[in-house]
Amino acid sequence: MARRTPYATFASFDGTINTGRGHLERADLITDVTVRPSARRNGLLTALMRADLTEAAGRGLTLAALTATEATIYRRFGFGPATETVGATLRTGPGHGLRAPARPGAVHELDLDAAPEVMDRVFALFHAASRGSHSRPAWCNDHATGVWSALTTGSIEGVHAAAHWDGRGAPDGVVTFTLRRGPAGGHGDYALDVEVVEMIAAHESAELALWRYLASIDLARSVSAPHLNPNSPLPWALDDPRRLARTSREDLTWLRILDVPGALRARGWDGCGRLTMEVRDPLGLSGGVFALDVSPEGAEAAPTGARPEVSLGIATLGSLYLGLADPVAMAAAGLIEGDPERVAALRVLFATDRAPYNITYF
Ligand SMILES: CC(C)(COP(=O)(O)OP(=O)(O)OC[C@H]1O[C@@H](n2cnc3c(N)ncnc32)[C@H](O)[C@@H]1OP(=O)(O)O)[C@@H](O)C(=O)NCCC(=O)NCCS
Repeated sequence: MARRTPYATFASFDGTINTGRGHLERADLITDVTVRPSARRNGLLTALMRADLTEAAGRGLTLAALTATEATIYRRFGFGPATETVGATLRTGPGHGLRAPARPGAVHELDLDAAPEVMDRVFALFHAASRGSHSRPAWCNDHATGVWSALTTGSIEGVHAAAHWDGRGAPDGVVTFTLRRGPAGGHGDYALDVEVVEMIAAHESAELALWRYLASIDLARSVSAPHLNPNSPLPWALDDPRRLARTSREDLTWLRILDVPGALRARGWDGCGRLTMEVRDPLGLSGGVFALDVSPEGAEAAPTGARPEVSLGIATLGSLYLGLADPVAMAAAGLIEGDPERVAALRVLFATDRAPYNITYF
């Protein structure tokens, strides 16, 4: 039988995104976007994307999201980068010190077979607590335990696991990692480089406890993590913050607002205020001029005929929505129009107590 390579692939599934203050909003999560090299630039992605977003919006979903291999593809479809992550390496060894976490609890090694269940439990806590978190597909546990990874399309040998247990004996942090052995310099000596595969922590105290544990592994001279919250307390907890090098910085979530009033209602707001905003949507799914009124009771965004105070594209709203982007910087870059004083008001309105953070690739 002849092997048939599809001209294009495109998948989406319903998941949830934490939109702040503990609200989990149902969202269209898009993945597996490919077009056969010989079929590119013929409008296949455009047709698939338009059909998917239109269908999701028609079902009443307010948000769509994806993670992107290239940053130049999705803005034209109304997606804006909405969460970021950094890679980091901590130099341990003599002179390294990390302050003890404030909350009670302890880290213990974990049998790898038991890790997926613990990861699911800890992820549920993280997902409920972290603005910007996406729900986690099942294959993420396979990646974390080294069974098979969609990110590396292979397995990872020699994965270890450990978990942090809170004062009542429930897991609130979990890490999987490998140990790479290398020469330490002295005669016959060797040192270990600890490489995190996945770390999930329900709160900062558990995160710091896991870093302390990894740094205390015998002969460890470094701990590297592919993902760290850009606002992690880790540098502040170190006696010598210069031992922590940020090795990369990348966008993770790309967010697409499908229904402006619905999404603004579903957002957890940390501030209050009123603003008339114009949102331009190149695909015509949502957009218009809205009178946004945010109070402690919630937000309303009614279509209005009033003159907008600020004007922005839907991809820009996607970058503002979870609290990542600074409207003043975006205005300076030409992405938001309006008087500086109204742009400053937009900044106050969209400011969040905590920066968004997502750990889920899909
Ligand atoms: C990215 C990809 C899916 C685009 O598919 P496609 O069917 O060729 O896209 P379309 O023909 O619908 O083009 C849509 C627009 O995107 C642009 N575009 C396509 N691929 C692009 C790329 N890699 N970078 C920047 N722009 C791109 C096109 O020029 C076109 O722009 P225009 O509307 O201004 O003319 C395809 O190039 C691909 O499979 N790339 C390799 C895999 C990949 O990167 N997948 C994305 C995973 S997140």
